[in-house]
Amino acid sequence: MQQKKPGLFITLEGLDGVGKTTHINFIQDYIQSKGFKTYLTREPGGTEIGESIRNLLLFNHEKINKITELFLMFASRQELISNVIIPKLNEFFIVISDRFIDSSYAYQCGGRQIDTQHIDSLISMLDGYLTPDLTILFDADINIIFERINKSTKKDRIENENLEFFNRIKSVYSELQKKNSQRIKIISTEKNIEVTQSKIIEIIDDLLIRKNLV
Ligand code: TYD
Repeated sequence: MQQKKPGLFITLEGLDGVGKTTHINFIQDYIQSKGFKTYLTREPGGTEIGESIRNLLLFNHEKINKITELFLMFASRQELISNVIIPKLNEFFIVISDRFIDSSYAYQCGGRQIDTQHIDSLISMLDGYLTPDLTILFDADINIIFERINKSTKKDRIENENLEFFNRIKSVYSELQKKNSQRIKIISTEKNIEVTQSKIIEIIDDLLIRKNLV
């Protein structure tokens, strides 16, 4: 059963290197400037156990089986839902998560080519699963993204994958956006930062109006 949410739950998605990190603090500051309490977190991670899982997933040097990777993503997610997301929403916070469930579809189904049904069954097992009120999907041309990833001097395990891997992720994100266009709003990060920020403001304002919060 879906959890009831007194607060709001916003998630941010996109490929590695798309520029998502640049906009996270702006989003949090903007929501706070409107008088709301915010709580920023991330996946994998966000709890003590989750951050240990993140280290295993991204910075260990042993090859990880793709199903192990999937389970670890979900183990981290369960801890985050139970120990952070639900308690904070119950305290009327606007919770902002850098990645959530759409990343599993994009990376594990798209990138790793795991059957979608496996993700669906894991979601059904989650204790207190909840759908985000809004997901902002940051997007840019795949070649620009891939070039940025490759330029990075400290690539993690997933960032070492090839162009085809990222291309598959991009198509799954695009399909998810088309199927859930009410929830997932897409923003291009190819334009200058002011243009991206004004689009973010438009999307957040629209959410606050829809939820009768302004
Ligand atoms: P990311 O959030 O991009 O961190 P940073 O901005 O510090 O590089 O890194 C998380 C990585 O984990 C990213 O490559 C996507 C991946 N991931 C999955 O493969 N599946 C998931 O379910 C989640 C949440 C993340």
